[in-house]
Amino acid sequence: MKINLANIKKAKKLLNKSECIAIPTETVYGLAGNAYSNSACKKIFKLKKRPKNNPLIVHYFSEKVLKRDCIYNYDFLKLYKKFCPGPITFILDLKKSSKISKIATNKKNSLAVRFPKHPITRNLLKKLDFPLAAPSANLSSKVSAVSSKDVVEDFGGKIKFVLEGGKSSIGIESTIIDLRNKPKILRLGGLEISTIQKVLKKKIRINNNSSKISFPGQSRLHYSPGIPVRLNVKKVKNEEAYVLIKKKKKIKSNYFFLTKNGNLKIAAKNLYSTLRKIKKKKYKSIAVCKIPNKGLGRTINDRLLRAAKF
Ligand code: TXA
Ligand code: MG
Repeated sequence: MKINLANIKKAKKLLNKSECIAIPTETVYGLAGNAYSNSACKKIFKLKKRPKNNPLIVHYFSEKVLKRDCIYNYDFLKLYKKFCPGPITFILDLKKSSKISKIATNKKNSLAVRFPKHPITRNLLKKLDFPLAAPSANLSSKVSAVSSKDVVEDFGGKIKFVLEGGKSSIGIESTIIDLRNKPKILRLGGLEISTIQKVLKKKIRINNNSSKISFPGQSRLHYSPGIPVRLNVKKVKNEEAYVLIKKKKKIKSNYFFLTKNGNLKIAAKNLYSTLRKIKKKKYKSIAVCKIPNKGLGRTINDRLLRAAKF
């Protein structure tokens, strides 16, 4: 992808003034601000209508820069070397000397950190003197944005600048792993658990006990397209939009296909844009076929289950 340096310059200028902008990442677009600045972090919460007790994820250029703010172990280094930059977020302990805004962390002593792979955002991060707090660039509890158009749809002119980066190549949020004690997955995401397991060579726990939710972002009512969603549907009603994993021979106008051939990575990439498309066509409800619960299919099912709680 060609990098427009004038755009990067503009982004840098705004971020230096503690303004918020949208940035592209390979997972989803982020609503970014200086993670060391209280005023920038306050703006992010306000724009997203995000509850104050839901801390912000922070984006770094490299592990070398992260050293200023976080303490980490050998498990982190193994995963970092293998998967970063990429779609994995680590929960780590904050250093006492860290300059991360207390607004961003909600005064907790842990931090969610990620190293995005998108070349435009990497170029920007390299040029900044601070890391970027950047939760997904959508209104709180709604479907994430995978293009600059999606961001503008949610925020209109309220965001000063959207750094254009095309459609997100993964299209679903990062996998979150808590590495402070025994590795534990807090959110399924764009990186498959089996690949993480192969590198760590130890058992990884998955936090799927929804009664013990510690952060709203892992709560049930999330990723909602704003209309009811039914799952594992074989018989669709005429007035419903029907989401299918792969193309069928018999096509009806209310059918929406995630892929041509059923590839789960492609299905994950197209999930949010398909839900947004359906909403725009003014359907009042969505029915989804059964999605295989393996690989990225697990992440898709996780998001759909939450969307169905609407
Ligand atoms: O792919 C992604 O992770 C995207 C891109 C923009 O990087 N970001 C993203 O941010 O999905 P957000 O804020 O929508 O989701 C981050 C999740 C939230 O559910 C939040 O509750 C959780 O991370 N989180 C943040 N800080 C945490 C912490 N210290 N401990 C546990 N969970 C944390
Ligand atoms: Mg989000």
